[in-house]
Amino acid sequence: MDKKIAVIFGDGIGPEVTQQSIKVLDAIARQFKHNFKYQYGLMGAVAIDKTGNPLPDETLQICLKSDAVLFGAIGHPKYDNDPSAKVRPEQGLLKIRKELGLFANIRPVITYTSLHYLSPLKNNRLENVDFIIFRELTGGIYFGKKQLSDDKTEASDDCIYHRDEIERVAHLAFQYAQKRRKVLTLVDKANVLETSRLWRKVIQELAKQYADVKVDYMFVDNAAMQIILNPKQFDVVLTENMFGDIISDEASVITGSLGLLPSASIGNKLALFEPIHGSYPQAAGKNIANPIGSILSAAMMLDHFQLHTEAELIREAVQWTLANGFVTKDIDPINNYSTSTIGELITDYVENRIPSKINKENMIISKSTII
Ligand code: IPM
Ligand code: MG
Repeated sequence: MDKKIAVIFGDGIGPEVTQQSIKVLDAIARQFKHNFKYQYGLMGAVAIDKTGNPLPDETLQICLKSDAVLFGAIGHPKYDNDPSAKVRPEQGLLKIRKELGLFANIRPVITYTSLHYLSPLKNNRLENVDFIIFRELTGGIYFGKKQLSDDKTEASDDCIYHRDEIERVAHLAFQYAQKRRKVLTLVDKANVLETSRLWRKVIQELAKQYADVKVDYMFVDNAAMQIILNPKQFDVVLTENMFGDIISDEASVITGSLGLLPSASIGNKLALFEPIHGSYPQAAGKNIANPIGSILSAAMMLDHFQLHTEAELIREAVQWTLANGFVTKDIDPINNYSTSTIGELITDYVENRIPSKINKENMIISKSTII
């Protein structure tokens, strides 16, 4: 299969984690005789530094001519504490979502038994946690009219949804639920917000087309509690943009490591894949960041290309590294391996170069070379 992949490294640890995904994708291409062509574009603080624009038009054109986008991370501390900054790295991400029409953000939340000890939750709450959050990504309060009064003492952000925007993401979520445990939970604030009442009405109507899916409705404040109290109750969670932003970060920490989680942002034509973690500037360039969130995002990209065997092999390789203690510093502060070593191990696994009984004594901990 021939595929054109736009690669946007972005800021902070973005380049080093994305490079591991490219290594793994190249290994997949060699093993399965595919041809992946990469084209690189700038976005985020690096793009502001070089061009003054967080999403240069050239990057957008590269993306529009590709089959999918692989993205690293965005954000730089110099913008975080400056509310008056007119140009911000995050504008690049919001613009690319809008321009590429990426209306659904999909974040799977699964726990790994070998990492239960890292979770802030008790072990008995973590077994069988396997849910997926569908967040509407191009509407709502993120993209409504923003106003600041002339005397700068009053501000507003409009939250607007049209039923078409609700329907398209809802169809995707229902279809996923049909392939899973067939439970969809709509998270909203229908006791207060008009937009939420529209979401409920639309979902109630669509539910008739998906009679095999059980639909639950949950207020977002309660959902925030339930994700901590009983996360295994969820299968597919569907919600609007802002609620999705908040609960998906909450859900991500129960797994024990933010560094492990991938995401996909899907549109009608294009899709973008990125780890859910941020740019982690303190770790940038140190070869210590966890590349697995990015590598699993690349696996989601392969699923999107209908290359399910290939995607599954990457997930198996990831499971193998975790189960054998080949982990980065965020997971084990004492015995850890570098970003590039984890990338190489996963590549080796994909290319069948892992001996069935590996001798860990022969590997250098915290170095990128395997001897
Ligand atoms: C995310 C991020 C973004 C968002 C920021 C960086 C604009 O938090 O992808 O969840 O709020 O959508
Ligand atoms: Mg977020």
